[in-house]
Amino acid sequence: MSRRILVTCGLPYANAGIHIGHLVEYLYADIWVRYLRLRGEDAIYICADDTHGTPIQVRAMKEGVAPEEIVRRFHAEHTRDFADFGVQFDMYYSTHSEENRRWSERIFQAAKDKGVIARRSVEQMYCPKDQMFLPDRFVRGVCPKCGAKDQYGDVCEVCSSTYPATELKDPGCAICGTPPIRKSSEHLFFELGKLTDRLREWTNSGDHLQSEVKNYVNHWIEGGLRDWDISRDGPYFGFPIPGEQNKFFYVWLDAPIGYIASTEAWCKAHGRDVADYWERPGTEIYHVIGKDILYFHTLFWPAMLMAADLNLPTQVIVHGFLRVGGEKMSKSRGTFINARTYLDHLDPQFLRYYYAAKLSGKLEDLDFVFEDFVNRVNAELVNKIANLASRSISFVHKKLGGKLGRNPDDARTLLADVEKEEAAIADAYARRNLAEVVERICRLAEAGNLYLQHAAPWEALGKGDPERARDICTAAINATKILTVYLKPILPQYAADVEAVLNLAPLTWADAKADLAPGHAIGEFKHLVQRVERAQVDAIVEASKVAAPAPPQDYTVDPLAAEINLDAFARLDLRVAEVVAATAVEGAKKIVQLTLDLGPLGRRTVYAGIAEHVSDPHTLVGKKMICVANLAPRKMKFGVSEGMILASLSASRGDQRQHLALLEAPEGKPGERIH
Ligand code: MSP
Ligand code: ZN
Repeated sequence: MSRRILVTCGLPYANAGIHIGHLVEYLYADIWVRYLRLRGEDAIYICADDTHGTPIQVRAMKEGVAPEEIVRRFHAEHTRDFADFGVQFDMYYSTHSEENRRWSERIFQAAKDKGVIARRSVEQMYCPKDQMFLPDRFVRGVCPKCGAKDQYGDVCEVCSSTYPATELKDPGCAICGTPPIRKSSEHLFFELGKLTDRLREWTNSGDHLQSEVKNYVNHWIEGGLRDWDISRDGPYFGFPIPGEQNKFFYVWLDAPIGYIASTEAWCKAHGRDVADYWERPGTEIYHVIGKDILYFHTLFWPAMLMAADLNLPTQVIVHGFLRVGGEKMSKSRGTFINARTYLDHLDPQFLRYYYAAKLSGKLEDLDFVFEDFVNRVNAELVNKIANLASRSISFVHKKLGGKLGRNPDDARTLLADVEKEEAAIADAYARRNLAEVVERICRLAEAGNLYLQHAAPWEALGKGDPERARDICTAAINATKILTVYLKPILPQYAADVEAVLNLAPLTWADAKADLAPGHAIGEFKHLVQRVERAQVDAIVEASKVAAPAPPQDYTVDPLAAEINLDAFARLDLRVAEVVAATAVEGAKKIVQLTLDLGPLGRRTVYAGIAEHVSDPHTLVGKKMICVANLAPRKMKFGVSEGMILASLSASRGDQRQHLALLEAPEGKPGERIH
């Protein structure tokens, strides 16, 4: 009987692209799930975008669009990136879904019924202009410890000290710059401490956690579990809390619940029952996550599931972070590489191979070293693995009529070794030690190449013994076939190419046998993998370089208005307009009455609010200005204004005087259109 298995990954935030750091996780889990399926297990791989919270809401505010619009945009982008890297989710859903709303409400209600929800007042920073409570990251100011400017409300990036946002000096709202005020509000808390015993038991029974992780969690538990604030005041992009006024579930409450909601969405589409996964026994549940979100997955999440009497994770599988050349990914150094930038330059299989070669199921960080990447791909994947395949297959195709022979006696040890390794490789996959899988495959490929080198089918053919040549190649091709089975979870495209070239049905784990028989006709030969050149990697880094971040700004600007398309802009009809008269207006200190000549379009009267900035209106006469000529006439106190002239009027903070610059048309006859 096959095992029913559910695998999830951390849900990526819906306000940023996928980068190669994320891919460590999604590829790691993808490879493991592909292996499980290849073994015939009933395994599904579920993920979703994590859509709620302040950052996305603020981004939407700044862009002048609905948060749903941003969610839609990134969902499409993420889906494409994953597909192009061969990350094969059974469901890639969204936490902004009806299923998730229902499950969040249900779990919250269950926790309330269990008596683990408390209500308390908390004081927080509040922006009076934006009318919202500001999370720590949305307050910026001077570090209270070292005096560094423009630091976040929770931690100083210069001296690394942490502090409550209320201690920040000269604080400002990160959205609009207004100094925030303190304001108190009622919040709902999940009383984690009440579940201490059950959490301790879960942590220490069975192997739900890697031993290193277990240590962390025990340390937290014994230090005393603090209540968890699960509510946020509106405006907030999230689910309203039933029975509360203007309160929403904190994003981290509904995000992991997204695992259940997305499972349900998949179940609906496949005639399955979500209760089999999350309520009844019989399913293994695995969460693959990075170490930064460990607390949420080993304490909050199990606690929520306990409160709602749902199934607990079988294992939480934690991996380390990606570093590049020994350092944190950096935008200025070009090592913060987006999935798409990589795809623009290189075969995604190389990254799948390289990560697999480095991932052994430990917590330690993983280092992407460019030189090492190029070497391993070329020396192992190209020169060992693909080489064994191409040499033997192309020889049979070109010189021996594309037909296989019989495995010769002198290949017996080789083929026995390759077949025998199945158990060890399966075991390494099961332990998710992909580095070991790759190492074992490489060793076998090396042995295969050595055999081919010694047996030398080209010499046999040269000596007029094509059948001997055919048999040698048959052994190498059988070895290739088995290695391809072993590699298939890591390199699905390569496996598909080998299947096509060898004229085979899709390989499964049971095909790890040297059984390709005499007379089997192989397909057309095609090149399997290209070498990677260092220059390609350098091009990726170059394309990823972002100019060093601008120095901290000591002023703020208006948020960007809603995006417009070119059409909207083109609808403005701008014309050259010569000022023929300019006079002050009686009783309107700020207004100048302009008479503009638009040539064949006639004359216009325009009232412009520029009087305070021009000492003598008459100096304007004779100037060619830019006039918005298709503006609807507007009735004003002193007459009808038949257009508008362009001028820039700006003021910087701390300098209340506005500065005016009239925009003049450099050339052109009155009435001519400006494009
Ligand atoms: N939205 C949360 C997760 C909610 S899960 C209910 C989140 N999103 S994330 O986009 O920041 O990260 C998604 C996953 O990718 C996390 O498991 C995270 O650890 C992992 N990684 C993000 N950057 C990474 C690296 N640089 N290296 C390795 N894994 C990384 O956290
Ligand atoms: Zn503000």
